[in-house]
Amino acid sequence: MAPQTVLITGCSTGIGFATALMLAKDKLTRFKVYATMRNLESRANLEKEAGSTLNKTLFIRELDVTKDPTIKSVVDEILRDNGRIDVLVNNAGYMALDAIDQKSVEWCQVMMDTNYWGVVRTTNAVLPAMKKQMSGRIINVSSMAGVRGAPFFATYSATKFAMEGYSESIAPVLRDGYNIKVSIVEPGPVKTELANKVLGTPFEEQAKDFDPILRDVFVTGVKRMASAMASVTQSADEIAKLHMDIILSETPHLRYQTTENLTKTAALKFRDPTTDFLLDMLKQSRYASPAE
Ligand SMILES: *[C@@H]1O[C@H](CO)[C@@H](O)[C@H](O)[C@H]1NC(C)=O
Ligand SMILES: *[C@@H]1O[C@H](CO)[C@@H](O)[C@H](O)[C@H]1NC(C)=O
Ligand SMILES: *[C@@H]1O[C@H](CO)[C@@H](O)[C@H](O)[C@H]1NC(C)=O
Repeated sequence: MAPQTVLITGCSTGIGFATALMLAKDKLTRFKVYATMRNLESRANLEKEAGSTLNKTLFIRELDVTKDPTIKSVVDEILRDNGRIDVLVNNAGYMALDAIDQKSVEWCQVMMDTNYWGVVRTTNAVLPAMKKQMSGRIINVSSMAGVRGAPFFATYSATKFAMEGYSESIAPVLRDGYNIKVSIVEPGPVKTELANKVLGTPFEEQAKDFDPILRDVFVTGVKRMASAMASVTQSADEIAKLHMDIILSETPHLRYQTTENLTKTAALKFRDPTTDFLLDMLKQSRYASPAE
């Protein structure tokens, strides 16, 4: 059987990087991966790790999810060279610490443009081909912050809530109408990114532009949450493995949390309709068990 063609956004580091490599290096050569990134100047690490798979099962291309022509160019190339596009992994996105009213609407809109509208643009670009094929897989990499608002990450949570709402709405329609199977993946903290950025920089420094009360809530809250967050950090490879399992599954779920504790937190949200547990920053950061 011909390998499945896979388009992944945001592959210069992290989850996109790990997923691209894991699929491209598959021993059974079941995948041909178009690993894309906003700026090709960041390709050195991926190129190096790709080794002999480069230009064989792994193709590195430039794609900026805020720029339609760059999306079109990659999708056109995939269709020209393979005649089909089997899988899209919407992974590109970024996370930035918020300060509620101290961030401008423009600052929030820029993040929404990448994290939400970027997913819509890329999905819209592959859907005509998938509809024609009457098959396809779309994986949206969300976050636990797309299930419950993560303190100090208001805009980031909003971008992921938007993506989750849209995904939930469209999933049954695409499945029933076109046999396109859609899944949302909700990781918690992943090694390198969150661990390094949020836990690696002194908390006081990260909050230097906050007003004094907000800074105090942040520093106190983050200090209480830090060890709990550090202890549940996963590797990008674990998420990559899950992506491969989803792609190979005949009947993928709509939603995947990436650890058992995250599943418990998601379940807690639905079990407690008041969601008052979200008012306790420590409890929600610990991915508390339902008993707590
Ligand atoms: C892989 O393809 C790219 C783009 O077509 C090209 O620039 C690069 O030299 C190729 N590398 C190898 C090792 O074939
Ligand atoms: C992913 O999110 C985008 C934007 O919200 C949506 O268009 C698409 O249908 C979603 N895909 C899945 C698999 O849920
Ligand atoms: C899951 O949560 C429990 C209770 O908060 C904690 O003791 C345990 O270490 C967590 N497990 C993992 C794998 O993070």
